[in-house]
Amino acid sequence: MTGTAFTHAEFTAAVGKVQAAARSYYDTGEVLMTDADYDALLDRIAAAKAAYPEWDDHGVTTRVAAGVSGGGDVLHPVPMMSLSKVTGEDEVRGFIAGLGGDACLVEVKLDGLAIRVEYDAGRLVLAALRGDGSTGENVTAQVLRGVTGLPARLGTAWTGEVRGEIYMSVDDFETAGANRVAAGGKAFINSRGAVAGSIRSVDRTYETPMTFAAYDLSGEFTSHRERMAYAAELGFLVAGRLATGEVQFAADADAALAAIARIGDLRRDLDFPIDGAVLTADLEATRRRLGAGSRTPYWAAAFKYPADTGSTVLRDIEVRVGRTGRIALRAVLDPVFVDGTTITYATLHNPKFVEDQGFAIGQTVAVWRAGDVIPRVTSPIGEQPHGLTPWTPPETCPQCGEPWDKSSLLWRCHTASCAAANALEYWCSREAMDVEGAGEALCVALVNSGLATDVADLYTLTEAQLAELPVGTTKAGGVVLLGKLNAAKVVASLERSKSQPFNRVITGLGVRMTGRSVGRWLAARFKTMDALRAATVEQIAEIDKMGLIKAQHVVDGLAAMTGVIDRLAAAGVTMSVPDTEGDKPLDGKTYVVSGSVPGFTRTTVSERIEQLGGRASGSVSANTTALVTAETTTAKAKKAAQLGIPIIDPAEFADMLAG
Ligand code: IVH
Repeated sequence: MTGTAFTHAEFTAAVGKVQAAARSYYDTGEVLMTDADYDALLDRIAAAKAAYPEWDDHGVTTRVAAGVSGGGDVLHPVPMMSLSKVTGEDEVRGFIAGLGGDACLVEVKLDGLAIRVEYDAGRLVLAALRGDGSTGENVTAQVLRGVTGLPARLGTAWTGEVRGEIYMSVDDFETAGANRVAAGGKAFINSRGAVAGSIRSVDRTYETPMTFAAYDLSGEFTSHRERMAYAAELGFLVAGRLATGEVQFAADADAALAAIARIGDLRRDLDFPIDGAVLTADLEATRRRLGAGSRTPYWAAAFKYPADTGSTVLRDIEVRVGRTGRIALRAVLDPVFVDGTTITYATLHNPKFVEDQGFAIGQTVAVWRAGDVIPRVTSPIGEQPHGLTPWTPPETCPQCGEPWDKSSLLWRCHTASCAAANALEYWCSREAMDVEGAGEALCVALVNSGLATDVADLYTLTEAQLAELPVGTTKAGGVVLLGKLNAAKVVASLERSKSQPFNRVITGLGVRMTGRSVGRWLAARFKTMDALRAATVEQIAEIDKMGLIKAQHVVDGLAAMTGVIDRLAAAGVTMSVPDTEGDKPLDGKTYVVSGSVPGFTRTTVSERIEQLGGRASGSVSANTTALVTAETTTAKAKKAAQLGIPIIDPAEFADMLAG
């Protein structure tokens, strides 16, 4: 329905919906709509209002904080405004042009709540939320419980006002949510909702850590940078310095666009939530000259990145046992587009969390992507259909049928059979030996039947044995056997796996705390299994990024598997890297591959680069030799262009690797 014009009745309904969402958001912290849905609806209301000025929007499009239920008891001596949005390159250029040649600063737009704090002779005396922009709620007592970056007492007897954003870092959010759930409450949907829900509750019995960063300070200064330097001196965290250390200074539109791209690029790695970049004039003279409208200043604007929270329907919860025996709950979702990717699976913390939230299949849930790449389901959202029954986790391990060890929040299965099946499954997985047809069902069946208890046993299996293996049940309860055809495929695939490169063999052994990268590092450094087994913890730890703890795990893990490794070697599994001395055309070169390279997977392309003497890295830096990508508009591509690093077309790169 997006984009179509409203009828009057739809308009009125939409206004009501926005008001209800805003009211519940500010009053209880409960989220009825995601920010993106809220903004989109508000945009449509504004468009309709422009076409039919006589329609009554109850002020939701004009008030500073649209639809908010009301201000509070604290009057803001200077109104707390919002920022107008700029979307796309042209509007950014337009905004910069409006500055009349003066420089602008580009900083993160923190995703929290605006707050104003007064100090008297160095003591924090008042903290007030933005409210409706003219008056806001007094939250002094809550703030005095402790907010990082907002000292109750400054080192200097400063008197004045600081403005900024109060927000939750990713860690703050995890802690606050866990504390709230432990106290019998609901989890928060994302960190902004969490701040909104926590900051106004006076009688909270649980702690909700929060952080403050400043973007304005009272007093006479000639530039914003000077103002913020003084804020830092007083002991405040400064918004403009959070992501990049120093605030990004942009002399022209190209520089501003590059700075916006840089923040967008960093966004995934930041440990605090942002929803955009703020462009602001640096010089006070420029700010004074441009002035402000009723809701927004003309000297600043917000560039919004795609929303990091989406809402979608929970279709299923899969229960699996991880490599280490821990329960893993995976939500199966209706596909939803969040921050540039389509998400169909997300993690769901632990069984207690799922029970506490009362998640039910068929329910609408919020999916949040922040700080890392694994999206998570954070909370039910909006109105829920009636008659759904909350999902309950199975009491027993789905692989071996034994009861879980529930002594920690992440339940575990310790049975030897499960440990064995998980080890087989990991060895056969795509990131290790890539044995086709050897998934969970087959590996569990192999262990249950006694045909295989470790990975070396796999290479003794015959087609006849495999064909008779029960791997499932029919609807009517009959047994499904693997069958001759599948058995032949598995045996052929196992045979092929013997010539997988050495690094995959190391990875497949499944040593704790190691994965694909460690397999590659160890193969590149030690070349043969004999040399690797002879290596000391110190020698292994010398590998860049390895560290002593992982190195110790490698030594212990290999020692524990001596017998298995010997039998694998006897079966003909690769135990060394081929001797390619003198054939290292990529020696000293570092490539960043973004997107796919024809004929390679993400793993095999890194393997090939390293085989040819080069390094494969994930992020573009001054040390990068070239970026391999077909995209020219991504943040990585822009960063490469900025650093003068060449971009190689994936097809061309595939030829390079082949030759
Ligand atoms: S400058 C006139 N800088 O975004 C207000 N705002 O819609 C001047 N925000 O209410 C704001 N990070 O709460 C500024 N680095 C930043 C910001 C920031 C977050 C919030 C602020 C404001 C809203 C604008």
